[in-house]
Amino acid sequence: MVSLKPPSLMPVTRAEALLILSCLAVALLAFLLVRQLVKQRRPPGFPPGPSPIPIIGNIFSLATEPHVFLKKQSEVHGQIFSLDLGGIMTVVLNGYDCVKECLYHQSEVFADRPSLPLFKKMTKMGGLLNCKYGKGWIDHRKLACNSFRYYGSSQKLFERRITEECMFFVDAIDKHKGRPFNPKHLVTNAVSNITNLIIFGQRFTYDDRNFQHMIEIFSENVELAVSGWALLYNAFPWIEYLPFGKHQKLFRNAVEVYDFLQEVITGFSHGRVPHSPRHYVDAYLDELEQNTGDPKTSFTYENLIYSVGELIIAGTETTTNTLRWAMLYMALYPNIQESVHREIDSVLTHGRPPSLENKHRMPYVEAVLHEVLRFCNIVPLGIFRATSQDAKVNGYTIPKGTMVITNLYSVHFDEKYWDDPGVFLPERFLDSSGNFLRREAFLPFSLGRLLEVLFKIHVMNYPRLG
Ligand code: HEM
Repeated sequence: MVSLKPPSLMPVTRAEALLILSCLAVALLAFLLVRQLVKQRRPPGFPPGPSPIPIIGNIFSLATEPHVFLKKQSEVHGQIFSLDLGGIMTVVLNGYDCVKECLYHQSEVFADRPSLPLFKKMTKMGGLLNCKYGKGWIDHRKLACNSFRYYGSSQKLFERRITEECMFFVDAIDKHKGRPFNPKHLVTNAVSNITNLIIFGQRFTYDDRNFQHMIEIFSENVELAVSGWALLYNAFPWIEYLPFGKHQKLFRNAVEVYDFLQEVITGFSHGRVPHSPRHYVDAYLDELEQNTGDPKTSFTYENLIYSVGELIIAGTETTTNTLRWAMLYMALYPNIQESVHREIDSVLTHGRPPSLENKHRMPYVEAVLHEVLRFCNIVPLGIFRATSQDAKVNGYTIPKGTMVITNLYSVHFDEKYWDDPGVFLPERFLDSSGNFLRREAFLPFSLGRLLEVLFKIHVMNYPRLG
């Protein structure tokens, strides 16, 4: 019989062990570095762009006023150029002609959203705003759009409820008895209540601290989601394990927001009768139940929470900021404020509340609102998009899945379409007879396939826009 003796392990000294570990660490670092540098190579035929710093690329250039930086870069590299966001190759569209060519003439190609680690972590690429272009994308937009039409614009009652909200708003202002105050919270509450009527069938009172807190931290997350930390997280998702950094705040806020939304959704779905939806949440739950058992369905309870949150914040942040800018500009230009006031007084006689029917008789007010939206650039870089297939633009090749930034600020400050774009001038939206004048290069809500569906949501809020 042969006995097999296991080979004895060679004793390794501490110094040797350290050397082996160091070699492994160096090899791993070298591998990661080479992988990163390969990721950072521009694909053949890709648009040119500013020189990137190794590893982090152009991330730090976007730290402050990125829309201004990107417009300046377009003067050097052309209307379409590329950025390296730490290995995430990105194309930036600038100026009306370029944005129209991509988002309008090639709308389907530019309809996707990028698969960014942040979106994956926050909404698992589901929900409404950041889901991938496909069946779930269509289903969720259809449902949101139908709900906004059915529970919103199609009902005369809805207009009455908006008027009621305005009354609550004016009463709350009156409580300050002419003393100065920051209107931010009041405007936010009033504005979000219009969306809340469609989503939950009810408004939240202005002293509902829980709702206010939710909106506050959600707004904070909107800011954090486009901050340098978010870009770093997208490029290097392992920073999730660092105990510091603003991305950690973003994650904590998200947990709190989703917990709150889950609670209110449960509350507002009490007493639901299947197939007799009272609001968006009921309509979503009907879809969810009808599709139970379909493995391909995107209607899930989780996606309901994400969609509700996204609808609330998409409507609230944007409209609130528009109104706050409008207030600021009325204070800065008392002559414009006076003309606005005069026109409103001339149409709304005998103390009648305003209605949508009155809008076409207020061309100056309309022009002022349009100029606020142009000048203040509420969403200056749109929402990040991605190519759903390989694309060709201005002779460049953009591979499928490339992240795309639409610089809407550069459209509103495009000298080819606007004279003196840096001047606040409502008259640019009026013809020589004082009638309202539509302008082609006015894209506060962006353009294209996404908005073909949600256009209706925006137009409902601003019926003369678009
Ligand atoms: C002044 C007000 C508003 C502005 C400036 C604004 C602007 C925008 C912009 C720039 C986009 C990005 C489109 C893109 O991907 O290119 C967008 C998308 C969106 N907005 Fe608005 N918006 C406003 C009001 C609202 C309101 C009131 C709602 C609904 C309550 C809303 C719901 C949405 C939704 C759901 C999307 C995602 C569209 C999609 O992914 O298909 N927005 N908005």
